[in-house]
Amino acid sequence: MALEWYQNKNSRDNKYKKSKLTEFNSKEMEEVYNFHKSLPNYKATPLVELDNLASYYGVEKLWVKDESKRFGLNAFKVLGGSYAIGKYLSKKLGKDMKELPFPVLISEEIKNKLGAITFVTATDGNHGRGIAWMANKLKQNSVVYMPKGSAKMRFDAIANEGAKVTITDLNYDDAVRLANENAIKNGWVMVQDTAWDGYEELPLWIMQGYSTIINEVIEQLNAAKEEIPTHIFLQAGVGSFAGAVQGYISQLYGDARPVTVICEPHGANCIYQSMKAGDGLPHAVTGDLNTIMAGLACGEPNTISWKILRDNADFSISCDDELAARGMRILSSPLADDKRVISGESGAIGLGLFSILREKNKEYEILMKELNINEHSRILCISTEGDTDKEGYKNIVWNGAYTNK
Ligand SMILES: Cc1ncc(COP(=O)(O)O)c(C=O)c1O
Repeated sequence: MALEWYQNKNSRDNKYKKSKLTEFNSKEMEEVYNFHKSLPNYKATPLVELDNLASYYGVEKLWVKDESKRFGLNAFKVLGGSYAIGKYLSKKLGKDMKELPFPVLISEEIKNKLGAITFVTATDGNHGRGIAWMANKLKQNSVVYMPKGSAKMRFDAIANEGAKVTITDLNYDDAVRLANENAIKNGWVMVQDTAWDGYEELPLWIMQGYSTIINEVIEQLNAAKEEIPTHIFLQAGVGSFAGAVQGYISQLYGDARPVTVICEPHGANCIYQSMKAGDGLPHAVTGDLNTIMAGLACGEPNTISWKILRDNADFSISCDDELAARGMRILSSPLADDKRVISGESGAIGLGLFSILREKNKEYEILMKELNINEHSRILCISTEGDTDKEGYKNIVWNGAYTNK
């Protein structure tokens, strides 16, 4: 089964009281954007327009936001970690974020005021790299735990930022618990990109950090005199990223917002399972969380995101690994003069899913009808990472691993 889908009929009605979206108000998101712009070498990541692929698939527009270009870190995740650490420090220092642009935050004066801090997190790779990068810039310490089976290259990228890294023999969610236990035991600051009851302040800041992607997209579309997308494909691990984008666009556009399609791997489809359960509660997926989409191999939904997605996301689709591999290959071999995008497993799933939906119209007839993708559709996919595991990338793109049967 290439995919299983669920249409969330609650997304446009009021079955559930709409979860609070005020956390994603425009004023605060502008503060986030300004903070990111103060980071060294800040540059908006490219919004790649794939015109040939759009006409091949019979839609008006097809954009891919290429997060492999984010601060040279090959993934979007640092947007969340950097802002959350900034917010945490601003609170600790009793100062407003406006007084703490990045150059001030990393100054000797601030370092002396703060003393030594150790930031700790669990990660499949990208989030941990962002935390290690930020701690390094602040001349502070970081400790990072990775789930079993993590790629050596992802380990090295974090260690190279000066973090103390361990690949555990645990799955992602248990690695999070280990990081939290050690944070409590050692007085470290837990900077986790997921929330649970009793731990929601810092993860919310991380989610707010992701809004910069949407602010950039809006500016890029305005500059090109383009209208907003009709459909956005959003990949989910714990759902922080998807929940953040959903929260912000729901807040910005209300009922006129784009249709959202949440994509997950079959092996770790906790948002899909939670939607399908229909009781309004988040449901965990346990076990090894087997998938090539390492960034999405998470079994327990973020409690803040879950409510936002439950109340606002339109579709939840659980996908075969082959769809991610397909997306990687399509983006790596563009049609005519379309630009090439290097997209990793967790980055390419949206495009892979979209491609199969367009090609297998008949097989997914009901879903296609509900999605209402047609020649007037403007599709946005966000490639959230580049080739963060270069061996895996080559194996898929060169050697054809995970080809559809
Ligand atoms: C590349 C990439 N894309 C998407 C995600 C999903 O983010 P979330 O866990 O917030 O759902 C991750 C998470 O680590 C990731 O690394």
